[in-house]
Amino acid sequence: MSGHNVWTHKGTFLLAAVGSAVGLGNLWRFPYLTGENGGGAFILVYALTIFAVGIPILIAEIMLGRTSRQSPIMGMRHLTKTHNTSRGWETIGWLGAASAFLILSFYSVVAGWSLHYTWQMLTGSLIGADAETIGAGFNSLLASPGLMTLYHTLFIALSALIVGMGIHKGIEGGLRIIMPALFIILLVVLGYSAVNGDIGAAARFLFTFNLADLSLEGWLQAMGQSFFTLSLGMGAIMAYGAYMSSTASLTRTALAVAFVDTAVALVAGLAIFALVFGAGLETGQGPGLMFVTIPLAFAEMPFGALVGGVFFILVLGAALSSSISLIEPVAAFLVERFDLTRPQSVALMVIASWALGLLTVVSFNLWAEGTIFHTLFGRSAFEFIELLTNIFMPLGGLLIALFAGWALTQSEVAKELGGHDTWFAVWRFLVRFIAPAAVAFVFLRTLPQVEGYWIPAIGALVIVGAFAAGRTFLVNNAQQQ
Ligand code: PHE
Repeated sequence: MSGHNVWTHKGTFLLAAVGSAVGLGNLWRFPYLTGENGGGAFILVYALTIFAVGIPILIAEIMLGRTSRQSPIMGMRHLTKTHNTSRGWETIGWLGAASAFLILSFYSVVAGWSLHYTWQMLTGSLIGADAETIGAGFNSLLASPGLMTLYHTLFIALSALIVGMGIHKGIEGGLRIIMPALFIILLVVLGYSAVNGDIGAAARFLFTFNLADLSLEGWLQAMGQSFFTLSLGMGAIMAYGAYMSSTASLTRTALAVAFVDTAVALVAGLAIFALVFGAGLETGQGPGLMFVTIPLAFAEMPFGALVGGVFFILVLGAALSSSISLIEPVAAFLVERFDLTRPQSVALMVIASWALGLLTVVSFNLWAEGTIFHTLFGRSAFEFIELLTNIFMPLGGLLIALFAGWALTQSEVAKELGGHDTWFAVWRFLVRFIAPAAVAFVFLRTLPQVEGYWIPAIGALVIVGAFAAGRTFLVNNAQQQ
């Protein structure tokens, strides 16, 4: 496999992975889901899954990419052959491609909203505006399917252009500036909202918890969000891992990605909720949360139009570096599998995702309620697509953990982890037992028929036990372990 491209700098993988991880998931989705799910309890489940499940799976996913050195689907095909396992593990690749396609569809619509706000900021139209005016402005954006489609189209086309021309590895330089700048400007917003909003109330909301507050679906959303925010379980990280230099440290890189990603989400959450409580807004208002609070800070800030404009441009940069990582694995697969050219593959994926995105567009207006969709699924098309990704990503992650934990040989893993024995033992225990049990637990906990914690806990143990006991059947080379 030595002919395969490897990124020129050791640190490039870290930068690309942070670029993929940090995005709308941190700034837009994390605060809004936290608000809808009552705060602390949601964050607790989210944080626990990041550390006990997310980080080990992040390591596992990079590992699968780096050992196979191919795109996720073909890479999994290769690994199932070399490790004598069932071809069924290829599901990891397929499930990932399906998630990527679903996520891109709504991601691009929301990124389109940021495009709208970049414009609003730079033209100064929101300067001096109060919460009510800003809220009304957002509602009128939502009420316009035409405008939303336009922004959605622009954003997805731009992402496609970058991946299609194959220059995404060249945006390294851009990311080196965008990421730190975004963090600094977030701190400015946090500082502003700490002084002018109610930071105490925000901290209480985010950091005090009562697990009983969390609805059944809240559990799934919290776990789904921890996968979403780390870009896990869908091949993005595996695709990037395929280009990672074999000497860079896996554990250190994964910890750094998780740390930066969580920090960005928490700072954004604190800033947004300080503004929410300061202005007496609704915490559970849904997907518009970021777009009706952050502009409020810029409305009064000195040089608000400029700072706000720069802020939203950085948000767009962060969203772009995430969206290209959604396109990459699917496009790479189409190239490898069907012999399409790179531009053809990208076009195929993006046009299909764009069309699906129209469902998200109309979920906020024409199909906001009372359609056949609501009758069938009890929610809007956008919420349904989100639900699917909340299931697909952890499921993909579960399979990744099991494959990396049980099918890769001891020597392969030891080599990947740089021969560090303690890491090896901890990591292997986490991916073999803890991560699969935690995912199974949350899935079982979400079932409406199940009450309390005992049944999911026992169920999770049974599932993991079955895997441990049955690994000889699943993985033919288990004797090598
Ligand atoms: N992690 C990205 C974000 O938080 C979204 C994403 C998910 C990107 C999955 C790639 C894969 O915005």
